[in-house]
Amino acid sequence: MRVLLFTGKGGVGKTTTSAATAVLSALRGQKTLVLSTDPAHSLADAFGVRLGDEPTEIPGVAGSLYGQQVDTQRAFEASWREVQHYLQEVLEAGGVDPIEAEELTVLPGAEEVLALLELRRQVERWDVVVVDCAPTAETLRLLALPEALNWYMDRVFPMERRVVRSLRPVLTHLAGVPMPPDRVFAAVERLHTELSDVRRLLVDPATTSVRLVLTPEAVVLAEARRTFTSLAMHGYRVDGIVANRVFPEDGDAFVRGWASAQQSQLDGLGVSFGSVPIWRSPYLAAEPVGVDALGRLAGDVYNDSDPLAVIDTPEPMTVERFADEFVLSVALPLADKREVDLVRKRDELVLTVGSHRRVIALPSVLTRCVADGAALRDGRLRVRFRPDPDLWMRG
Ligand SMILES: Nc1ncnc2c1ncn2[C@@H]1O[C@H](COP(=O)(O)OP(=O)(O)OP(=O)(O)O)[C@@H](O)[C@H]1O
Ligand SMILES: [Mg+2]
Repeated sequence: MRVLLFTGKGGVGKTTTSAATAVLSALRGQKTLVLSTDPAHSLADAFGVRLGDEPTEIPGVAGSLYGQQVDTQRAFEASWREVQHYLQEVLEAGGVDPIEAEELTVLPGAEEVLALLELRRQVERWDVVVVDCAPTAETLRLLALPEALNWYMDRVFPMERRVVRSLRPVLTHLAGVPMPPDRVFAAVERLHTELSDVRRLLVDPATTSVRLVLTPEAVVLAEARRTFTSLAMHGYRVDGIVANRVFPEDGDAFVRGWASAQQSQLDGLGVSFGSVPIWRSPYLAAEPVGVDALGRLAGDVYNDSDPLAVIDTPEPMTVERFADEFVLSVALPLADKREVDLVRKRDELVLTVGSHRRVIALPSVLTRCVADGAALRDGRLRVRFRPDPDLWMRG
């Protein structure tokens, strides 16, 4: 079972690259589904076929290729709407203190939830699922969602359901926070379990690869670098980059001008992305539409390499034990020290990089330690923890 997620800035060629990769996967004998989570679907256009909300066979490939455009506008399960409504109510009622409210990375959105649940439903039925994601910002929201829901579970639902049931009238009165009806609890719990499953799948290096698509232009590259950092911060592994729309070197003066400007950007890729493999996709004279054109493009991009291979990448987060301290190490490739901020709060570490934030639940051994300094070096943030004698004895 393999999941390949393609993301990147708007218009760089995510859909085309996903579609081409899926064609190649099917040609190599894998039962393949290409699934679009972008509400602005164009997967069907790339194949020149009609695709629906359920997997639809895409004809013309020897092998098994299906496509699906998740209908994120689909009538939403009533229970989730209620959950969302409740979460909002709690926040508005001030049940979460303002500093914590500021920590909220994501208010779960309907579209992301639906896309993740659909991915979970499909993943076991296929050898390979290629996901054509929405542009970066939405994708990051999507991928941050399962963990963000954990945050809600811990903060907004801190009490046992049974206790709440018996005490609801009193608590509502005392706390000034509306207590959720039982069915909301049940819905939240189910959703939490399902989204935790998806997260486990998406951070499993044997299953999931995140691939960044970019075009060799300064502005696009700058965003790709930020995305690379943010994905790592959330624990996702980018193990491949596709540089799309690369001009040939032998053209007229106009094309040669572009080719040489692109070359200097391409030269910088190795510096930015280190050992992550970089595939190049040629700028074609016409839009690659349909399985034949997409298959040829994939042949050009991957040559003899295997886009489905599992590629070794550094652990996103580790805890190392030394003689008298622990070191929590978080991969933050390309991050600039000046935009990294770190706050310890009880059993959590609030990590902010630029405009992105992750609330990391500390591994239990670290909850009984005091944080004792942090350093950003070689693309990793290392936070030192010393056992707290008081907490250690008690724990
Ligand atoms: N290598 C290429 N050569 C020529 N045309 C290309 C190439 N890659 C993509 N295109 C064309 O560029 C347009 C945008 O590509 P695509 O839809 O794949 O981008 P996207 O990143 O999915 O965009 P969006 O952010 O809107 O989802 C399409 O018309 C596509 O056919
Ligand atoms: Mg697209």
